[in-house]
Amino acid sequence: SLILRQSSSMIGVLVPNISSPFFGTFVEGVQHVAQHERMIPLIFSADRNAELEQNYLSQMLERSIDGLIIASATMTTDTINRIIGARDVPYILFDQNYAQEGTRVLTDDYRGGELAAQHLADLGHKKIAILEPNELSENFTQRLTGFQDCLRKNHIELDVAHNVIKAPLSRRGGYDAAAAVIKAGVTAAFAGNDDMAIGLMRGLRERGVKVPDQISIMGYDDIYLDEYVSPQLTTIRQPIMDLGIGAAKMLLNKIHSDQEQEQIQRFPVELVQRQSTARVR
Ligand code: RIB
Repeated sequence: SLILRQSSSMIGVLVPNISSPFFGTFVEGVQHVAQHERMIPLIFSADRNAELEQNYLSQMLERSIDGLIIASATMTTDTINRIIGARDVPYILFDQNYAQEGTRVLTDDYRGGELAAQHLADLGHKKIAILEPNELSENFTQRLTGFQDCLRKNHIELDVAHNVIKAPLSRRGGYDAAAAVIKAGVTAAFAGNDDMAIGLMRGLRERGVKVPDQISIMGYDDIYLDEYVSPQLTTIRQPIMDLGIGAAKMLLNKIHSDQEQEQIQRFPVELVQRQSTARVR
């Protein structure tokens, strides 16, 4: 008898850093959908290296890829469109990129920044440092603008010259920034993501600084490690697994429906209060 075989779609997933638990969990979400939908994901991690990222993208396009999820650290929509060129390959943008248009899965980064600042303000902190990456992709711009706007609303002045500390977006980056945070003489620090916050906590501990007694630390993401570090990390939760599920479903939809219009799916964020933040002493 004739067996009709529907072939699986092959989709490419480009993330900046697979060793970040954030992207690990995101990819799990994508795979969750893939298992049900006859879809084979190819995962690439380009380590925020522009050349590698663009190379992976062109390589994927040369094989017969059905769609792409791009969480790119370096590419603008123009670059992406240039590489995709005349090929009609649908793609979804997610997380780190420099795009203000295109079909995207978003979280409310501005709101997340506000929630983080309000939490620190509610605990009485006035001297606050921010740890942020060198290059601000659109989601970080939103996150940090929300944070700073909310400080302003609470009449808290941010000493931009000394207290905005640039560091790589990684545990090592946070760890290496510990000395600068201590030097800033702050009572609280907001790290751009949980990886940085976890590295920073270790750096502070090694320098004899107690968290949260001397410095409160606020992260961002709610990666699974947050509950396993000591003190457990206070953070802003992004629904990471749901983001992966949402991006994969949206892409499948786009592959199967020839939907041309821009679609945006927004996910909420929330404060998760744990033990790394406390009332200022
Ligand atoms: O490394 C993960 C972090 O970078 C998250 O905050 C995510 O939103 C991102 O851009």
